[in-house]
Parts: sequence; structure tokens; C-alpha cells
Amino acid sequence: MRILLIGKTGQLGESLIRLNNNHEIVAPSREVLDLRDVNSIRKSISTLSPDIIINTAAFHNLPECETHPLQAFSYNFVAVQNLSLICKEYNKFLISFSTDYVFDGTKQTPYNENDPINPLQIYGLSKAAGELAVFKHCPDSSIIIRTCGLYGITGSKSRGGNFVDNRISDASQYAELEISSDQTVTPTFTDDLANALFKVIKHRDALVGILHLVNEGSCTWADFTKEIYRQMGLTNLVIPINREGYSGTMKRPAYSVLNNVRAKALGITLPHWNDALNRFISSKYKNY
Ligand SMILES: NC(=O)c1ccc[n+]([C@@H]2O[C@H](COP(=O)([O-])OP(=O)(O)OC[C@H]3O[C@@H](n4cnc5c(N)ncnc54)[C@H](OP(=O)(O)O)[C@@H]3O)[C@@H](O)[C@H]2O)c1
Repeated sequence: MRILLIGKTGQLGESLIRLNNNHEIVAPSREVLDLRDVNSIRKSISTLSPDIIINTAAFHNLPECETHPLQAFSYNFVAVQNLSLICKEYNKFLISFSTDYVFDGTKQTPYNENDPINPLQIYGLSKAAGELAVFKHCPDSSIIIRTCGLYGITGSKSRGGNFVDNRISDASQYAELEISSDQTVTPTFTDDLANALFKVIKHRDALVGILHLVNEGSCTWADFTKEIYRQMGLTNLVIPINREGYSGTMKRPAYSVLNNVRAKALGITLPHWNDALNRFISSKYKNY
């Protein structure tokens, strides 16, 4: 199977390349394939002739999405729509990524794939628009994977790293940290997501549509930080703080735990977030 990967330098992209042992992954640099340049997408797809296109690229720095909504929509909607149209033209299977932030967080139990969406901020809105574009143009040959709180070995350049690395870095500067307790999420290790994705690829025809893929379990960011410090053997004090979902004027969902209903039905499961964190810390910080 030949896979065209967009976003090879990102957290998920790096995990996919490192953990792949079955497929031929072709991953052009951004200079060769820019998601916002239709001609470069068409050229890559027509010359490389992949079986599947995996798009992990996004504009997903949340505060920047609020201040630059046109840019958020130009990546997360317009570029994804163009990619879908080209996949349709060349009859290619598309897998693209979305977010737990398409939900408003009013539910008290994990969100299923068919729960109604209601994004609260520009990022969620732009990703929801991208989801609709993919299904409009490739209804029978695409999967949108919604995931949550990604952390990977490389960190995300556009988001300034990832939550785990940033809290570990904070620990060397601050004895006490205030961390939000008003959001319940499932942080997800990109290695686990990548391994699940390889299984999804195998079952892709049965999984067309929306798919939730996150590690098991849930926690608040404050709980997660306490567990990071516990596993790292750090004694910094984590002070849970309730900001009622607000970062400035931007609102985040209070509860955005995803239920991997469709993947589980095919026997595709991810480990618990606590176990995932343990493996991440062991592989990245083993000499700490
Ligand atoms: N991170 C999270 O917490 C989270 C949560 C839920 C959903 N998601 C979704 O999951 C997906 C993967 O996230 P991630 O954290 O792995 O992302 P990431 O680390 O930020 O990586 C994004 C990748 O996209 C590339 N890219 C950016 N703009 C591009 C363009 N115009 N053309 C081609 N490539 C471009 C980046 O290249 P450069 O290195 O050159 O910038 C990078 O390789 C995204 O769709 C995201 O919205 C993420």
C-alpha cells in the first residue's frame, strides 16, 4: 500500500513514519506539497499515485485561530475541501483529522461519533467545516478521525510543543503551577494513535465516515499534570483552577471525552492514557 502523508514533521506524522512497517509512506516536504497550494497537491497525487492520502496538517494554535479566523478557515476548511476534490478526481481514499473541539462539552458521558456537534470557538468551527467538506466530496472513500490532546515525541511546532513537554519544562521554573480543572479530556499519545491508524487502514472500507480515536479513560488537565509529575518523580505543587472553560474570551468545552465506538466494534482499541503517558515518559525522558 502506498500512502501519501501530509505533515511528516508533526507529532502524528513522526509517529506514523517511525512505527510503519507495512506500507510505503511517501512524505513530501512542505516545500513540495503545501496543503494550501492546490497545484502542489494535484502534482503530488498524480505523480506519486498513492492508494491513500493521510492529512495530518492543520492550523490548530487555538488563540491564533481566534485572532486569524480567515487563516484558520483557509487551512482547516478551504485547503481540506480542495484536497477532497482532488481525491475525488483521482479516486483516492482520504484520511484526515479533526478534533474533540467540534463538541460543546455539555454532555456528561463520552461523545459518540453520531452525537450532534456544536463548536464553541473558531478552531472547532473551522475543523467542523473541514469534516463537512470531506464528506460532501468523498462520501464513500474517506475517514475523518477525531482525536484529543495529542502529544508525541517531536512536539507540535505550531502549538509550541505539547502539554507534557511544556509541563515538564515548567517544573524547572515554577515550584507551584495553576492548571485548569474545568476541562475533562483524554490526552492521547501519537504512537498509540498511529498504531490504531494502521489497523484502521486495514478496515478502511468498513470505517468510512467519522471515527473517534483516543486513549482510554479521562482526566482534567490538572489531574494529568499531577500524573506527569508523579511519573517523573517531581514534587512541584499542582493547584487545580476552575476558569469555567475560558482562555481570555475563547471558550473550550468542559467535557470532550470521545468514545471510540466504531473502532472498538472492529476490535481496534487504544491503551489507557496513564499507560500511554508512562511509555511516552520512558522513551523521551528515560535519562532524565
Ligand atoms: N495536537 C492536538 O492536541 C490535537 C488535538 C485534536 C486534533 N488534532 C488534529 O490532529 C492532527 C495532527 O496534529 P499534530 O499535533 O500531529 O500536528 P502538528 O504536530 O502541529 O503537525 C502538523 C504538520 O502539518 C504540517 N503543515 C502545516 N501546514 C502545512 C501546509 N500548509 N502544507 C503542508 N504541511 C503543513 C506541519 O509542517 P511544519 O513542521 O512545516 O509546520 C506539520 O508537519 C491535526 O489535524 C490536528 O488538528 C490535534
